[in-house]
Amino acid sequence: MTSRFEIHRFATIDSTNTWVMEQARNGAAEGLVAVAEEQTAGRGRLGRTWVSPPGGSLLMSLLLRPEGLPADKLHLATAAVAMSGADAVSLIADVQPSLKWPNDLLIGNRKLAGVLTEVEGVPPAVVVGIGINCTWPDELPAEIADVAIAANHVAGRPVHTEDVLDVLLETLATRLDGGWDAIAGEYRTRCETVGREVRVEMADGTFTGMATGVDEDGALIVMNDDGPRRVIAGDVIHVR
Ligand code: BTN
Repeated sequence: MTSRFEIHRFATIDSTNTWVMEQARNGAAEGLVAVAEEQTAGRGRLGRTWVSPPGGSLLMSLLLRPEGLPADKLHLATAAVAMSGADAVSLIADVQPSLKWPNDLLIGNRKLAGVLTEVEGVPPAVVVGIGINCTWPDELPAEIADVAIAANHVAGRPVHTEDVLDVLLETLATRLDGGWDAIAGEYRTRCETVGREVRVEMADGTFTGMATGVDEDGALIVMNDDGPRRVIAGDVIHVR
């Protein structure tokens, strides 16, 4: 395990993202990590809740203080953690999740993991949280039964959260050492939203088009009748 991360473990917590951001406000250094077995108020993107049965999920948040990374490139922090999570699941469980822009790890159309990035202050404290469904019972909570999946459902054996955490942090450290441009380039080639027809739901409306790329800031480029549009926020649904 690389020593650039300082890991704090919790049996139960409201939200690892909330805890790490509180520490950031109090001056915590880059590399602070919170890991919990259970969250009582787990949060997802766009104000959603993040539901996971107690135990069996990697619930982790990490503090970054990326020097010189402009605000419009902060998607790249999400991308770095998403790719590292995918690599960890692939290595430990022999399961290959796909990367859906901007923050999902999917198996088929079901969600294996999600990333929530939150930013505060100048220079920014960037808290990146990931929830990975590692070993879940076959019977899922009703509200997520149709949309979620866990790695053990595909691997056919238990997938241990600590093993996934170790690989995730190791690969993330290597990625961060490689720099944000390399992260953008890698995400561009791995993001499976590219080449798909998508529906983009934003606060000010919805449109459909073909996702043609991810730019150097990590924004999704979607081509429709009006030309290319750069998407930095909102929900993206794979239509085909
Ligand atoms: C999403 O797909 O909407 C993002 C989900 C992010 C969930 C993780 S679990 C660990 C961390 N703590 C939270 O409250 N949320 C993130």
